[in-house]
Amino acid sequence: MANSDNINRIIDHKLFTEEDIHEMCVRLGEELTEDYAGKKPLVVGALKGAVYFLTDLTRQMDVEHQLDFIDVSSYGDGFESTGKVKVVSDLSVDVKDRDVLIVEDVVDSGLTLKFMKDLFKKRGAKSVKCCVMLNKEARRTTEVEIEYYGSKVGDEFLVGYGLDFLNMFRNIPYVGALKPEIIEKYTK
Ligand code: IMP
Ligand code: MG
Repeated sequence: MANSDNINRIIDHKLFTEEDIHEMCVRLGEELTEDYAGKKPLVVGALKGAVYFLTDLTRQMDVEHQLDFIDVSSYGDGFESTGKVKVVSDLSVDVKDRDVLIVEDVVDSGLTLKFMKDLFKKRGAKSVKCCVMLNKEARRTTEVEIEYYGSKVGDEFLVGYGLDFLNMFRNIPYVGALKPEIIEKYTK
C-alpha cells in the first residue's frame, strides 16, 4: 500500500512516515495522560481529517475519557480557505462543565480551531485545549493557542493520514506533500 503506483503518482515527497507518526502519538499520549490525570475529558475529533490521528492518539492515552465529533468547515470544495467557518455537523453531547480536548489534523490559518475553541467556551466548557498533529505556524492569520502538537510543518499542501485534497487521499498511511501538478490538474 505505502508504495503503490497510485500513491507514487500523486505524492511529491514523504514528510512523516508511519513510524514518525506513531512516535508523535506516543509522546503526545504520555503528555495528555499526565495532564488529564484524574479528569474525564471529552475528546472532540474534528471531522473528517482528524479521525486517523485521533484513533491512534487516544489509544496512547491512559485516561478515562469520552469521545465525540464535530464537523466544521472553513474550506469550500477546493483547498484554499473561504475564510468563513460553519458547523456542518454538531456534537451529540453538552460540553457544559466539561474538560474539552479538541483533536485536529492540521492548523493552517487558525480560523477553524479558533472557531471551535470559542464555540465550546461559549457553551460553558470548564476548559478547552487542543492537540493538533501538524502545526503550519507560518500560515497563521488568527491568534490561537495550540497546547499540544506533533510537529511544525512548512507551507506545503499535505495529504495522507487523514489529510485530504478534495476529500481524497486520506487513507495514505503516511503524510506527504502533494505534487503541484495534481493541484493544478484539479483546480484549473
Ligand atoms: P484553518 O482554518 O485555515 O486553520 O484550516 C484548517 C483546516 O484546513 C484543517 O482542518 C484541514 O482540513 C485543512 N487543511 C489545511 N492545510 C491542509 C493541508 O496541507 N492538507 C489538507 N488539509 C489542510
Ligand atoms: Mg480538518
